[in-house]
Parts: sequence; C-alpha cells; structure tokens
Amino acid sequence: MASIKDVAAKAGVSVGTVSNVLNRPDSVRVGTRLRVEAVIAELGFVPNGSARQLKVGQSPVVAYLAIDSSNPFFADVARGMESEIRSHGLSLFLCNSDQSADREDEYLRNLIEMRVRGVLISAIDLDNPRLRQLRDSGIAVVVVDRVLGDGGDDWCAVGVDDVAGGLLAVEHLVERGHDRVAFVGGPDGFQQVDDRHRGARRAIEQSGASRRSLTVIPTDGLDVAQGRRAGERLLGIAAARRPTGVFCANDLVAVGLLQHLMQQGVRVPDDIAIIGYDDIDYAAASAVPLSSVAQPRHLLGRTAAQLLLDEADSWDRHTHRQIVFQPELVARASTSTLGVGSGP
Ligand code: RIB
Repeated sequence: MASIKDVAAKAGVSVGTVSNVLNRPDSVRVGTRLRVEAVIAELGFVPNGSARQLKVGQSPVVAYLAIDSSNPFFADVARGMESEIRSHGLSLFLCNSDQSADREDEYLRNLIEMRVRGVLISAIDLDNPRLRQLRDSGIAVVVVDRVLGDGGDDWCAVGVDDVAGGLLAVEHLVERGHDRVAFVGGPDGFQQVDDRHRGARRAIEQSGASRRSLTVIPTDGLDVAQGRRAGERLLGIAAARRPTGVFCANDLVAVGLLQHLMQQGVRVPDDIAIIGYDDIDYAAASAVPLSSVAQPRHLLGRTAAQLLLDEADSWDRHTHRQIVFQPELVARASTSTLGVGSGP
C-alpha cells in the first residue's frame, strides 16, 4: 500500500503539501493539486487510519504538552487554556513530557496521527522537526512559557520576561539587607532558568556594592527534591561565607529548600531568607509563607489558547505574535526580616 511519503516523493512535493491536497485543497495551487491527485490515483494511495479520515481543522481536541504535570504552574496555565478552549465548544487534552525530550517527541508523533486541531507546547526541544511536521500537517502550534528571540517569526509564543523576574527577586533580597545571595536552579540550558539567573546577576551588578556576591547552587531539575538537595549544599558552605538570601528558580525548589532548612533547625527568614518563582498556591500556604515572583499563569494559558484558535480557524489570515507578560513581586514572611547587611 503506497504511503503519503511515496506520493510526495513521486509528485516532488512535501508530505505537508499532500496532506493539504487531501484536507485543504483550496490552499494548494491548482497545478500542484492536479499533479498530486494524479499520483494518488496512479499509486492507489488511500489515507488509512480513522484519524486520517478526519479533515484538518475538524478535530474538537486541542492538546497542551506540558513539561511537568506535577508542577502546579502548568496546571494553572492549563486552566487558563481550558477556559478559552471550552468556550469554543472544544476539549483540552493535557499531556506530560515529564521533562523528557524523548517523551515529548512521542507525544508530538501521536498528536499528528490524531489530527488534533492544535498543539500548545511548553517545549523542551524547540528544534524538534516534528513541530514543523505538525504545521505541515495543518495543525496549529503555539509555544507557551517561552520568549522566542529570532525564532519569533515561525510561531506564536506567550511567555514572561524571566530576566525581569530574576532582577525583581534579587533586588528584593538586596533591599532586605542580604549581601551574600544564592541562586538555586537548573538544569543549564533551560531558558527560563538561564533568564532568571541572568536577572539575578544583573541585580547584584546594579546594586553597586562590591561586598555583595551571588553564589550559584545548580540543580538537575526544578522539583521539591532538588530543593532539599540544594539545602544540603547550602548548609555545607561555611557559615562565614554562607549566603543569607536565596532565590530559587521556582516555588517547588523553594518549598524543598524551606523544608530542609527547617528540619535542620535553621530559622527562615531570621537565619536565611528565601524567595521562589511562579507564586503557585503552595507558596502562600507554606509553613513559612514564601515570597515569590508571580507569573500570570491563567492569563498565559488563556492568551496562548486565543492565539492557537486564531491560527487554527483563520489559517490564511493569521499572523504569528510574540506576547511577553511582566512578572510581579509578592513579598511574604520568608523574606520579612532585615538581613545583616541592611543599609546602603
Ligand atoms: O518547568 C519549570 C518552571 O518553568 C516552572 O516552575 C515555571 O516557572 C516555568 O517557567
């Protein structure tokens, strides 16, 4: 049985063009369409699989492929998406790549087969060719929780200025009198973490006092266990050199750090102050309410869904947009006391 690739090869077009001839013939030049149709007839190609019978743009399903479904940040973003998606009579399927690029790729392959209406993705690997394959198959794609630099013409994207967020967090610690500051986060290469780290370093540099320092405690991920592990490393630093103000790359890491410090008898904020990022509900509900940098999670999700539906339903008129929101500082008990270095 001839495949769609056989048709594309013989007709000298891309798989996406063959898919368009089958599902959106008006979007293909007449000459190309006739040539492809002739090859389909010649090879006897029949799109198989019940999902393939589904014409593009007819699926009632939009998928959100998140990095870590156990992180409330993504659940909050998904709720914003769902409010928009359901108002259009459609359904949102939540997929979890679990911080694995391989699993992300597996989901993308399946979503192409399912002919979903669109894919919202908090991507691990933005260079995965399947993202273009989705688009070639007539499936809309919006990147969520990322600020795209030069790649901004290819996709819609919705994100937060994480450099500004890192600046806010460490400026807050400096204002509370902390001269020795730590940044806890990772892995390297994760743009959100790199940007927050960049903002943190900028805050120290702009503070103007040579006595101030930023110690980095790298982590392999951004969950509670990584926060506990960072606590062990922090307490392994000699007291005279130990940072007294800690900025964690997200709230789950901050929760783990708080848990470890309290178990070791360290007082928060009197001995060590902590600020996280995201402002998920657990931040305010922690044993010591956590200061955080709030991301507009529901708005991120709703806006991303609006862009996706515009692309899916107005393919020919749609123009890609990059929407960047600003984070906000939320000060709570975990940074409430003045550090030893308070003052100019
Ligand atoms: O995926 C880890 C983090 O990246 C989340 O906590 C949120 O901050 C996102 O930007």
